[in-house]
Amino acid sequence: MRKQPAQTKSKIINWIDARFPLIALWESQVSKYYAPKNFNFWYYFGSLALLVFVIQIVSGIFLVMNFKPDGNLNADGLPVAFASVEYIMRDVSGGWFIRYMHSTGASFFFIVVYLHMFRGLIYGSFKKPRELVWIFGSLIFLCLMAEAFMGYLLPWGQMSFWGAQVIINLFSAIPVIGPDLSVWIRGDFNVSDATLNRFFSLHVIAIPLVLLCLIVAHLIALHEVGSNNPDGIEIHDNEDANGVPVDGIPFHPYYTVKDILGVVVFLIVFCSVLFFAPEGGGYFLEAPNFDPADPMKTPAHIAPVWYFTPFYAILRAVPSFMNTQVWGVLAMGAAVVLIALLPWLDRGEVKSIRYRSSIFKVMVILFVISFIGLGILGALPATTARTAIARILTVVYFAFFLLMPIYSKMGPNKTPPARVTMSTPKQKLWFFIWVAIALIGSYIFASII
Ligand code: HEM
Repeated sequence: MRKQPAQTKSKIINWIDARFPLIALWESQVSKYYAPKNFNFWYYFGSLALLVFVIQIVSGIFLVMNFKPDGNLNADGLPVAFASVEYIMRDVSGGWFIRYMHSTGASFFFIVVYLHMFRGLIYGSFKKPRELVWIFGSLIFLCLMAEAFMGYLLPWGQMSFWGAQVIINLFSAIPVIGPDLSVWIRGDFNVSDATLNRFFSLHVIAIPLVLLCLIVAHLIALHEVGSNNPDGIEIHDNEDANGVPVDGIPFHPYYTVKDILGVVVFLIVFCSVLFFAPEGGGYFLEAPNFDPADPMKTPAHIAPVWYFTPFYAILRAVPSFMNTQVWGVLAMGAAVVLIALLPWLDRGEVKSIRYRSSIFKVMVILFVISFIGLGILGALPATTARTAIARILTVVYFAFFLLMPIYSKMGPNKTPPARVTMSTPKQKLWFFIWVAIALIGSYIFASII
């Protein structure tokens, strides 16, 4: 009798399963991993971050096949690294597609991760028992910043060179060890071929490996305690006789299907940018970077890529005091570190913003205004008025974190429901209203400032 394909498949799986816990892993992590049934829009961004990570690795592998990390000049008087990117864009078959996929992917990585982090903030997903999920996430964020910073040096354009120059010079503001530290990072007294080589190595091998390990740790920690949800209540507090949470649904097929919808919509947006506006209005690929790096010619205005501008604006907003810039550098570092400390700064008893006090909601709104406002200001050349506004927004940014131990305890909170709830039309309408306010507000602020 002819064997059925299904039997052959199960035989293979059985063979593997006798030697590797394939089915057990699939069941514990996917088909019998029970997630709250009320996941909403905000829960798309974890799987999308995974998707963008894969896009970056795959496109990066193909880029490395033709990229040359060499800062010396070729026979045409162009730096070899810069010329190799031009070669990828013009001569390598499909090279433009791979390069734009990688450069667009970098910006989309930050869009997705910022939204993912914001979800954690509004639903209190960093609170007990998910502190480690948040800590691993914060380390991922730190590595992602290092990865993007080092990647940006590789095309060896004007902004690559001068951006690295400005940021590495910041380390020399650190007392005692600073000057030696910045030479150690560069591998030279100036940003040079040595810097390009080590950044290439770190960008291509070291940091992606660390990122991969951290992502795995992030997900192991999450699956150990289970996912939070928009109501911020623990579904494992309410289980049936078989130990299955009554408000939980298996991740597969329910959320695999939901995530596929997210992937399709994401790819439509991603491909629209990739094919029709890969420069992202000069924010994803900055104009000076189309000129080769020239250590003798400083660009008129040096600004980091958009995803670093909130932190760059904080750096510029802090005045130099006692003849040193170290305060700005410290403030910029603290702005990142404070995010990781959220689980210990928030003393509130309720997790989700839906049930938190009005003062907490106001502080979150002020935080969003400060973050977007600083992001816009950091992309523009500094003027007296802009510096004054950046200083106010910097104070708001830090107040959000440093005053949290006080205002997060202030009531009254609403009592969260005993069982999870599905979003109501009113909540969905408010979501659209807030998004519209944020977009229109940012546009108006950017136009008048
Ligand atoms: C490469 C970057 C990242 C990847 C691939 C990633 C992946 C994921 C995935 C797949 C989930 C489960 C699905 C979901 O809840 O959306 C998740 C949950 C979570 N992530 Fe991330 N993540 C990343 C970065 C971050 C960062 C930077 C933070 C915060 C600093 C963070 C904090 C969290 C939290 C708190 C949860 C649990 C959310 C909840 O249960 O409500 N993640 N992450």
